[in-house]
Amino acid sequence: MHEIIKLENVSTTYEGEKRPAIKNINLSIKKNEFVYIVGPNAAGKTTLLETINGLLTPIQGKVQVFGQDVRKDGAKIRSEIGYVPQDFMVDQNEPYTALDVVLMGMYGKIGILKRVEDKHKAKALEVMELLGIKELANRPVGKLSGGQQQKVMIARALAKEPKILLLDEPFSNLDVESKEKIPKLIYQLHEERELTTLVVTHDANQIIQNVNRIVIMNEGKIIAEKTGKKLISSLKEFWWLPHTEAVE
Ligand SMILES: Nc1ncnc2c1ncn2[C@@H]1O[C@H](COP(=O)(O)OP(=O)(O)OP(=O)(O)O)[C@@H](O)[C@H]1O
Ligand SMILES: [Mg+2]
Repeated sequence: MHEIIKLENVSTTYEGEKRPAIKNINLSIKKNEFVYIVGPNAAGKTTLLETINGLLTPIQGKVQVFGQDVRKDGAKIRSEIGYVPQDFMVDQNEPYTALDVVLMGMYGKIGILKRVEDKHKAKALEVMELLGIKELANRPVGKLSGGQQQKVMIARALAKEPKILLLDEPFSNLDVESKEKIPKLIYQLHEERELTTLVVTHDANQIIQNVNRIVIMNEGKIIAEKTGKKLISSLKEFWWLPHTEAVE
């Protein structure tokens, strides 16, 4: 079976730190898997995602995406990954509009020196419409609310038309209605486009019925991995981990 993402004995330590933030991680993810990563604060979830997309370089082990070494082919690999980071800081005086930010996701495909054409704008607006933020297209992104900014970040990742989605707490600022709708939309696109999707979220109820695999992390390690039908009941074994109790 072909693996899209493969980590072998990977440890990542932040500069100036003694202890690795993730330790001896082994993980294999196949095409079109929908993976849910869970664990308490500081478990290493964000570090894991950023090690996969090559934004962090491991001190040990091997990370392969599409069979290529992230250390060597990071930029190329990242052009196929839609990443929604957990912490994005938008300056209130940021001059870019919401549409500009969504278009930035498409630069890898458009080519940085080429002009943005009407067809690119149309595609970006189409994705923004799916997320219910089309009317915000010309507003400066710094003046949007936290939830609106989060939707812009999701739109940016989707407009890129990536092969892989890495979503780090993508629903945290969303209102109740959006927390229902947007995970469904993401799953629908995941299926239609045969994506490979990794989601870190404490809002598990909305996505849990669709996942193929649950990766449970604690203190920098993968302490369990579950696949198959009994995902939800198996997650209950981990009730003692903070933030897993959200699953009903
Ligand atoms: N930039 C950094 N420099 C040094 N240490 C860091 C840095 N970012 C994270 N860490 C440490 O690495 C460990 C893992 O952090 P990480 O952000 O991956 O956790 P997480 O599971 O994403 O947590 P949360 O649920 O709070 O987002 C923590 O102990 C954290 O303090
Ligand atoms: Mg995190």
